[in-house]
Amino acid sequence: MEEISFYTDAIACLKQTLREGDKDSNVDIQLMLRNIQRCQTSVEKLKHNQEDQFFKSALEKLGRSLCSQADILERKITQLNTNLCGNLLPPSRHQPLTAATTTTEVSEPGGSEGQTSQKRERRSAIEDTILNSRNIKFCDVAGLAEAKQALTEAIIMPLHYPKLFTGGRKPWKRILLFGPPGTGKSRLAQAVAAEINSTFYSVSSADLISSWVGESEKLIKELFCHATSQPGRSVIFIDEIDSICRQRSSREEEHTRRVKTELLKQMEGADNSGTSDKIFLLCATNCPWELDSAFLRRFQKRIYIPLPENAARLQLIKLHSKDTRMNLSEEDWGMLVDKTEGYSGSDIATFTLGALFEPVRDLQASLHWRQLANGQLAPCNSSFPGALSFTLSDIPPDQIVPRDINLSDFLKALQAHRRTVTDEELEKFHKFTQHFGETETP
Ligand SMILES: Nc1ncnc2c1ncn2[C@@H]1O[C@H](COP(=O)(O)OP(=O)(O)OP(=O)(O)O)[C@@H](O)[C@H]1O
Ligand SMILES: [Mg+2]
Repeated sequence: MEEISFYTDAIACLKQTLREGDKDSNVDIQLMLRNIQRCQTSVEKLKHNQEDQFFKSALEKLGRSLCSQADILERKITQLNTNLCGNLLPPSRHQPLTAATTTTEVSEPGGSEGQTSQKRERRSAIEDTILNSRNIKFCDVAGLAEAKQALTEAIIMPLHYPKLFTGGRKPWKRILLFGPPGTGKSRLAQAVAAEINSTFYSVSSADLISSWVGESEKLIKELFCHATSQPGRSVIFIDEIDSICRQRSSREEEHTRRVKTELLKQMEGADNSGTSDKIFLLCATNCPWELDSAFLRRFQKRIYIPLPENAARLQLIKLHSKDTRMNLSEEDWGMLVDKTEGYSGSDIATFTLGALFEPVRDLQASLHWRQLANGQLAPCNSSFPGALSFTLSDIPPDQIVPRDINLSDFLKALQAHRRTVTDEELEKFHKFTQHFGETETP
């Protein structure tokens, strides 16, 4: 090779290494190491032929730097193989290893110590997704009566009354919840977990998509394998499924394709194997049209989770302002319901929080206070008989009482917090529901 070819080759290797290192996921660390080593060889050759001392010493410096980079990568690879890598899997949520000892291991060729510890690490990552605190109940989810009904029939009833679901009456196995952002899909799934005693895996794409090539498929396999090995029926909830199951494209990278194929395989496996009734799969997305049709087809029910209607909006405002003193008439509530048309559940949660803060702002500005019967102090006008002159900082914190929330607090908050779901987005959902949905509430 000519001298110039060594330079161009070394530069190309470094560029590819940098590109790989810049990736957020599926980093091929072996490729990075191979490139660095190839670059080292080129630099060695260049150094050997170099007579100019200045360039020679620059190449020596580069060689040392490459050597330490290769060393770092080699150590990283060893860590990955011996389970010391903090980055390989999502950080542990310190959940007790409930079923660790009872789970069937995902079979993997080899069986070296490194592989075993990787398997253990994978299993522990999956066990971390098991939901332990189940404090959101169906009653904490406003509206969505049809979705609750469908989930009750699909998951809760078969778990409580398995004998009712034998013979031809088979329980649903896979349900997709779709709808605009902030309409309560994730919350609803958490509420399902509270209604059942089975193992409930609450998985997000971040739990399954590893930074390292090949790991994601193994995590998916481990998830289904773990769920199958549990006593009774388990529920796997995969939130934001679109980030794993996007439509296939020709530009798609090979490993992304492999991850999808593995998920499809596991979904099929849960269908065909003797363990077919052991797993219930619940998924959620706010962009269902981005899902690969192969996945869409496999959901027996696709439930639309719409924006909250009137009664649900009222319930949502009350839900998010509970334990706060209110001074609103029936008419005021009615006005709020009208004015929040088009708001999502999360828009309502945010705007309600905004309203709840208004009295706190008043406290900071208040210069006059009235004494309550119990000795505490509430802000008032200067004209209030017996008004006391203080600033907030003069009053001991436990003596301060904010005023009640009123309609104008809500109206002010409404000005600041607009609806986030547009009519165009809603139209897209309606079209999708017409083609693929199962239920829709107007
Ligand atoms: N139906 C509802 N009942 C009670 N709270 C709700 C409801 N819908 C939304 N919220 C509020 O909005 C927040 C966001 O809800 P959630 O995360 O379930 O929405 P999502 O539909 O999963 O949104 P995304 O599609 O963006 O993931 C919740 O924490 C809750 O405070
Ligand atoms: Mg969600």
